[in-house]
Amino acid sequence: MTILVPNYILTPNILLKDKAIAFEKTIQSIGNLEELQQKFPTAKVIQLQKNSLVMPGLINAHVHVEFSANKNQLSYGDFLNWLYSVIENREDLMADCDLTCMSKAIDNMLENGITTFGAISSHAMDLEACQNAKQNVVFFNELIGSQAGMADALFTDFLARLDASKAVQREGFFPAVAIHSPYSVHPILIQKALGIVKNEKLKLTAHFMESEAERNWLDSSSGDFKEFFQTLLKQDKRVSDAKEFLSYFDGFEALLTHAVKTNEEELEQIVEQNHTIIHCPISNRLLGNPTLNIKKLNEKKIRWVVATDGLSSNYKLDLFEEMKISLFMHSDTPLLPFAQQLIKGTTVHAAEALGLNTGEIVEGKNADMLVLDLNTKPNEELAIHLILHRYNISKVFINGKLEKGNE
Ligand code: BEZ
Ligand code: FE2
Repeated sequence: MTILVPNYILTPNILLKDKAIAFEKTIQSIGNLEELQQKFPTAKVIQLQKNSLVMPGLINAHVHVEFSANKNQLSYGDFLNWLYSVIENREDLMADCDLTCMSKAIDNMLENGITTFGAISSHAMDLEACQNAKQNVVFFNELIGSQAGMADALFTDFLARLDASKAVQREGFFPAVAIHSPYSVHPILIQKALGIVKNEKLKLTAHFMESEAERNWLDSSSGDFKEFFQTLLKQDKRVSDAKEFLSYFDGFEALLTHAVKTNEEELEQIVEQNHTIIHCPISNRLLGNPTLNIKKLNEKKIRWVVATDGLSSNYKLDLFEEMKISLFMHSDTPLLPFAQQLIKGTTVHAAEALGLNTGEIVEGKNADMLVLDLNTKPNEELAIHLILHRYNISKVFINGKLEKGNE
């Protein structure tokens, strides 16, 4: 048992002052130091410095670890141009990102206070790095392929990757399924994969309504995707529309990434099915896509969380940076409540969406915790300052184990 003694604890629903946290793998008790010492007399006590704050470890629900080699190879500013550049550079980027490169990206996330991440794995090249990661990992095996003729081969490959991830036996590693997107996965494949998701109660995610091109293609098999599909895949028509795609997800409580071009009817379906939207503001900006309409999500009480996407559409894997960019992009939202929502979107709400027992400093939750050195006494505008100042993260605990910093 360890007792951590900070000045402040952000749960994140409330700010506690002068309380201590007793924990092993999970948080056992939060209270006054003397009470906790009486309860757990042999516990090791870690006294933290003045103006220290403990908050939940951050959760990055959507990242492509396999694409961590990208620096300037991919083209930014327009979604289709970016996609063409991905296809052109795919082999090189994969070859350039070996275990060391992927582990570096994962360690970087740890340095930035990310204690849980959702890895979208296209080829299972990242399996070993994710298995070795100190963080909790939801390992989303991705299924892609819109050509019916390729379905069997693609599904066999997907199953082999899923099985390999299921063979990983370590605390905090969860095999899961990603359906790439409505435009890129044939309904035959989607339905086969969702049968497994249902039987095995796996977590499910998909990219959804990321671009104007996707909107036009799914609505009327037109727009920028027309030429893409004709030339690269010899296809003239979409494989499903957005409504049909969403209907496959009924009953799953999935995580839908981007959703910046979602229409009213689709949002209603998302409300009904209790899906979560993953907000990746930096990726959206760099790929020339619109900004997520968070006001609308709030009106409809749709849960949204914040993620970095991969280094294929970002310059760092840092949720503090992501929150700051979102705060400035959504300049028509009230500052403090929005900052508080961003903090929840990287902690408690992300944990709920991923179905994980973390994201809060509360008795019974896993002890995934950050120690931040605030330098000054926090006030009622703490959420804003957490996002603006990028305070030093002096310790990181994951499942009760110190993974960054000294005792
Ligand atoms: C496909 O494999 O069918 C596909 C991949 C990327 C974008 C669109 C389609
Ligand atoms: Fe993505």
